[in-house]
Parts: sequence; C-alpha cells; structure tokens
Amino acid sequence: MSDKLHFDDRHILVTGASTGIGRATAALLAERGARVSMIARSEGKLAEAVAAMGGDARWFAADVGDKSALLAAFDEAEAALGPIEGLFANAGTGGTFAPLADYADEDFDAVIRVNLASVFWAIKRVLPGMVARGRGSILVTGSLASERGMANNAAYVASKHGVLGLARAAAIEVAPHGVRVNCVIPGFIETPMLMNIDPDAPDAVRDMLGKGVPQGRIGSAEELAEAAAFLLSDAASHITAQAIAVDGGILGTLMTR
Ligand SMILES: NC(=O)c1ccc[n+]([C@@H]2O[C@H](COP(=O)([O-])OP(=O)(O)OC[C@H]3O[C@@H](n4cnc5c(N)ncnc54)[C@H](OP(=O)(O)O)[C@@H]3O)[C@@H](O)[C@H]2O)c1
Repeated sequence: MSDKLHFDDRHILVTGASTGIGRATAALLAERGARVSMIARSEGKLAEAVAAMGGDARWFAADVGDKSALLAAFDEAEAALGPIEGLFANAGTGGTFAPLADYADEDFDAVIRVNLASVFWAIKRVLPGMVARGRGSILVTGSLASERGMANNAAYVASKHGVLGLARAAAIEVAPHGVRVNCVIPGFIETPMLMNIDPDAPDAVRDMLGKGVPQGRIGSAEELAEAAAFLLSDAASHITAQAIAVDGGILGTLMTR
C-alpha cells in the first residue's frame, strides 16, 4: 500500500457513521491509521460500530440537522482527538416521496437541513483550521441526484445538487491553501437506506436495482469506502472540486441495460 494512503494518526471526522457508507469508511480510515470521530444520532449503533472496529475511534451522538448539536459534537471531537484534519460530511436522509406540488414545506425544510445545511455548517466549522494549517481534505456525499433529476423527491434532488455545488464552491476558495474538497457520488450502494425500499425482500431489491447498472449489480459500502478513503488521503493530492461516482457505470452510460 502506498504510504500516501496511510493517515498517520490524522483526525478524520465522519458524519452518518453509525451505518452504511459512513460506518464502512470510518472503519477503513481507522485501519489505515486515522484517529476517527464518528457522528450520528443512534448511540447504540455508534457504540456497536466503534466496538467492531480496530484503531482509535470515538463516537459523539448528534442530530446534524440541529446546528448547535452539530457544532457541540465537533467541539467534543476536537477536545478528544485534536484538530479535525479531514472531514467526511456524509450523513443524509432520503426524505419523503410526493409530487412537488404536494411536497410539504416542513418535509422540504427537514431534508435541506440534514442533507445540505449540515454540510455547510460542517465545512464552515473545519475550514479555518485547515486553511491555517495549510492542509486538509473534505469529502461530501452526493448522489446520482446531484447530477440527475428524479420524480417525486424534490427535496432530496435539490439537497444533493446543493451539496455538489457547495463542494465545488469551497474547493475553489481553498485550493490555494492546501485544502481539497470533493464529492463522492454513490450509485446504488447496499446500505440500510437503499434496502429500506423493501426490507423484507433484499434479494428482489438487489435484482431490481442491479438490472439498471451497467456492471449488472449494486455496489457495497466497502467499495464506496475505498474511493472515499482515497479521496481523503494524500494519494489524491491533485484532485479537488471533483464529483467522483462509484456507481458501476450508471452516470457514464446513455442507455441502461
Ligand atoms: N446507499 C445508496 O445507494 C446511496 C445513494 C446515493 C446517496 N447516498 C448517500 O449516502 C449517504 C449515507 O447513506 P447510506 O446509504 O450509508 O445510508 P444509511 O446506512 O441509512 O446511513 C445514513 C447515516 O446518516 C445518519 N443520519 C441520518 N440522519 C441524520 C441526522 N439527522 N443526524 C445525524 N446523522 C444522521 C444515520 O445515522 P442515525 O440514523 O444513527 O442518525 C446513518 O449513519 C447519505 O448522504 C445518502 O444520501 C446513498
């Protein structure tokens, strides 16, 4: 393994780390020598995730849609593990499905707070320290819905387009200061969020979604974590302001299979 993929005790904070993509990425970062702080709402799932991981990992429960709770968790994480040198702003919610004209204002607000405002607050919180140190890496989690529209899910699509825009805007501002900001775009990745489509029939969900993927299958959280860890590491030192899809070819194709 290249030394540049190793994190040398750097403190990386991961939101949405209790399950799925965030949990798999936190585990890989810890395996590669990072000190990892993990944020989500579920204390039980966070504690279970930390117990299952090797390395130096701590958890801090917070609802990232609550700005003061998010900032308090970041303060606690820094008090425990030192300055945040890498950020994976990954927590997200699917939101409700409804035609745009019927989409409730409060549902729209809730999705925007968790999926977009929280990423803004998190980036704003960590950037000054990274710029002062002349080093740092930030990764946000987008979606196919960062690049494409989708019916009946206006808040999610708007929030995920916003997250990509936020990453690009931040990246250009801080590029001269040694800080990189990128967006990873999961395609269909097997996590609780995706499998919630029909939790009683996981094989049917895998088959149905896999048929639309050029590779013919959905991806795993571990496959996503490999790309996320790479983008957060010094191995990606000349990559910034990018949206990188881990999607088995979906965004690159004109026709699905
Ligand atoms: N899986 C896919 O195919 C796919 C595709 C496109 C994009 N994504 C994106 O990938 C990211 C991770 O999702 P996932 O697929 O890994 O699903 P997941 O397993 O459901 O993970 C979502 C994570 O976000 C946390 N979270 C949700 N709302 C939160 C809140 N208000 N405050 C703090 N933490 C919160 C959850 O923890 P708690 O419930 O414990 O708070 C959990 O750790 C999301 O941004 C999602 O939009 C996933």
